[in-house]
Amino acid sequence: MQKLYVAMVGLPARGKSTLAKRIRDGLLAEGIQARLFNNGDMRRALMGAESTNPDFYNPANESGREAREMICRRNMELARTWLAAEGEVAILDATNVSRARRILIEKTLTDHPVLFVECVNEDQLLLKACIRRKATLPEYAAYSEDEALQSFMKRISYYEAIYEPLEEEKFWLCVDSTANRILGERPCEGSPYYPAIREIVVSAWVHCLYLARHGQTEFNVRGRIGGDPPLTARGRSQAKALARHMRHKDINWVFTSTRLRSHETATPLLAGHPGAHVMAFKEFDEIWAGDCEGMLYSEIRAKMPGVTAGRNASKYTYAYPNGESYAMLRERVQRGLRRALFLAGDTPLVIVGHQAVNRVLLSLFLQQRSEDVPYVYIPQNQYYHISMTPRRKVFERIPYQEEIF
Ligand code: F6P
Repeated sequence: MQKLYVAMVGLPARGKSTLAKRIRDGLLAEGIQARLFNNGDMRRALMGAESTNPDFYNPANESGREAREMICRRNMELARTWLAAEGEVAILDATNVSRARRILIEKTLTDHPVLFVECVNEDQLLLKACIRRKATLPEYAAYSEDEALQSFMKRISYYEAIYEPLEEEKFWLCVDSTANRILGERPCEGSPYYPAIREIVVSAWVHCLYLARHGQTEFNVRGRIGGDPPLTARGRSQAKALARHMRHKDINWVFTSTRLRSHETATPLLAGHPGAHVMAFKEFDEIWAGDCEGMLYSEIRAKMPGVTAGRNASKYTYAYPNGESYAMLRERVQRGLRRALFLAGDTPLVIVGHQAVNRVLLSLFLQQRSEDVPYVYIPQNQYYHISMTPRRKVFERIPYQEEIF
């Protein structure tokens, strides 16, 4: 029976390890014996602090190069031994960015096919955020934040110097790791594992997403749209209730919009999860009502009847004068969601969004008709819990107890 080696490819901070783990977990869920062989873990165990120094990665540093090749060879041997026994798919998690390294892998592992899976991600915002997060890892404990950033960026530049994209390798898949999209492939025909891996790679993976709406604002009470109002006393109490409800939940990331109401809602939640990372995305700002920003719905009806009529006729496609439609909103919200999911990887995240934004976010998970999207019910005292893997889909709306007001 033919088994399979999967060798990851990609510059640091491109999402390789997250994808490698997904491939392992997705295959295990299908009853296929899959295991990771991670060069970074072996390097840290064998070499410790010496290998944190960026010079270790300088292609001109012979001893560093030899040490990294030795680790690669050891992991290949471990993978080969395991496949010779009960293993079915061995996943080699390493950068493998040079053609020479990949030739070494193809020449060494001849007992089963080798499928290279490359992760590509050129989103500068994500790269910067990933690099900042890497700089907080235990490996950099002895460094100041700035030193850690410089060191990691230097390491990346050494890898960039030897990077060559996949092309001549026998079997490969190149993936945009922020969009679960295949950018190019040379399929491993006949392998029963290839379609399974391909499906894992293109599937939406959401380990655990909580989608909440900000608490009540004065604008909400009066029927005024847009703007940047703060929460009312009730809104603050809703934010506290949400934080109380979530206090025992594991939360690793909190994403807000850049609006005050979203920040104020997230504040008690963050106080209860001091280890969580937080980031504000403009992509999650509420639909921009252009000339109607800050107006009451009743004012719009009276003074700009064309707007009300336009929205009534086609709320999804109608754009406010000098503002957005839901269809336009979808573009940026989708970009924000991709970024949030990439950064969170397989850890739980919260998004504190807005009415229209949350409608669009939900529609990205549910196969809804676009004309129904602008009417989805988005209450301020309930949140959605979403979890998705290729085999498991959870989608629930959960109320949380507000204090009696
Ligand atoms: O009313 C609150 C609000 O978030 C506004 O800021 C926004 O314009 C509106 O909801 C979006 O909902 P709809 O498209 O139904 O007007």
